[in-house]
Parts: sequence; structure tokens; C-alpha cells
Amino acid sequence: MTDKRIIHLMSVSSTQDEARKLVLREAEPEGRACPIGTVIVADTQESGRGRRNREWVSPTGGLYTSIIMKNDTHLPLRVGVAVARALREWSIDALLKWPNDVIVSERKIAGILIEAMSDRAIVGIGVNIEHAPLTTATCANDETASSGTRDELLAAILHEIEKTYEIDVIDTYRALCTTLGRDVTVTVGDETMAGRVHGIDRSGALVLKTDDKTRIINSGECNHVETLSAWRDPAEVLG
Ligand code: BTN
Repeated sequence: MTDKRIIHLMSVSSTQDEARKLVLREAEPEGRACPIGTVIVADTQESGRGRRNREWVSPTGGLYTSIIMKNDTHLPLRVGVAVARALREWSIDALLKWPNDVIVSERKIAGILIEAMSDRAIVGIGVNIEHAPLTTATCANDETASSGTRDELLAAILHEIEKTYEIDVIDTYRALCTTLGRDVTVTVGDETMAGRVHGIDRSGALVLKTDDKTRIINSGECNHVETLSAWRDPAEVLG
């Protein structure tokens, strides 16, 4: 991902759509090369989208970006780690709610949407910097006096993504994951399960202990029910 082309746009429907168009265009005869590492960043999005077809409200003053990357199984956790670490450089106490919501004191500050296109993935990242568009959300400016610009945050995230290829991403993810040890509900399709999180396995799956058994959950929607004391300060692990 070292070679990066950053394309700045003003208003788009969704940076995911712009990135997708570039990937599809590349496949056309005489299509322009659109290498891995191409980054689209927009000032606002009219139809920003989140996971599970939710809307991602995208007023000016936030970071809305899509990065064309090589797909890999750890990508969702890798990008979550990178965004949390970039925000921590601004002295924001950013943690991860499984799989990759970035939260501060249980309020969402950033979200990640990964859409696969054969061997590539379009990695969408939205960070609230100036405004928290929902009451359940927060933004960088409400959490720190040490924030910088949107483009500085983007550069930090891209740098942190590269660094994740040199570290044990699962161990770092675990250190930042505030879901570990918590009582949660997890929805997978039509089924909602309640239990306690006993771990994150080497594939990034949630290890959930319910009343009757231990379940390994590869993807789903997780909600924290209660805080437990099992949580550790990421600073102890991250230095
Ligand atoms: C989520 O938490 O549900 C994921 C939110 C992802 C939002 C980003 S903003 C940039 C990119 N473009 C989109 O339309 N969505 C992603």
C-alpha cells in the first residue's frame, strides 16, 4: 500500500461508489490503472452508508474516505486498529467495539465499512471530527483539545494501516477491544444471543459464552450490555 494516489472531491453520493467506479473502470479495455492504495476523500456525502444499510450522516467537517486495498481476512480488525491508534495520537481514548466500531466512552466516533470486490476491498472510513451527527455519537473536537486537520488524520490512518502489517494485529486488536470480558447481545441474521465475551480468536471471531454453550461468531452486530472489570488499559500493551 506504499504507493498512494489521493483523490480529493467536494460532494459525492458516497466515496464507496466513487472507489467502486474506479475499480470497475480499470477492468474496461483501455481503462486507467487504479492501483491498490488509491484513496478517495470527500468533503461531504449525500448518501453516505454504513454497515447493514444504515445511513452515515456526512456533514462537512468530518473525514469520509474510501481506500482501495488488497483484501485479507484481518482487514476489518486491521483498519479498526489503525483508526483507533490514529485517534489516540490526538489524545483521544479511542477503543474498539467488536468488530470495528471506534468508540469513546461508549459513543461512536468512527465507523468502518468494507466491501469486497474479488481480490480487492473498498475500505470506507468515516470519522466525526467537528460534529457528532447523532446523540449516540461523539466527535474528535468534543473529546480532545489536541485535534488536527482532516487531512492530517487521514495521513495518520494511512500510516497506521501500513504499520499493522508489521505487528501482531490480533494482539493489538485485543488490547484495544473494549468488548472483551463484557456482557453483550449479538445479532446474527434473525437470531439474537446474549452472553459474555470470553475472547477474540486468531481469526478475529468473537468467542461468546451463552447459557448453554460457547459460540464462535465470525460476523454480527454486537451491543454492550454491562461493563466488567476484565478490561485492561491498552497503554499497558501498546506502550
Ligand atoms: C458503520 O459504522 O456502519 C460504517 C460507516 C462507514 C462510513 C464511511 S464514510 C466513507 C465511506 N463512504 C460511505 O458511504 N461509507 C463509508
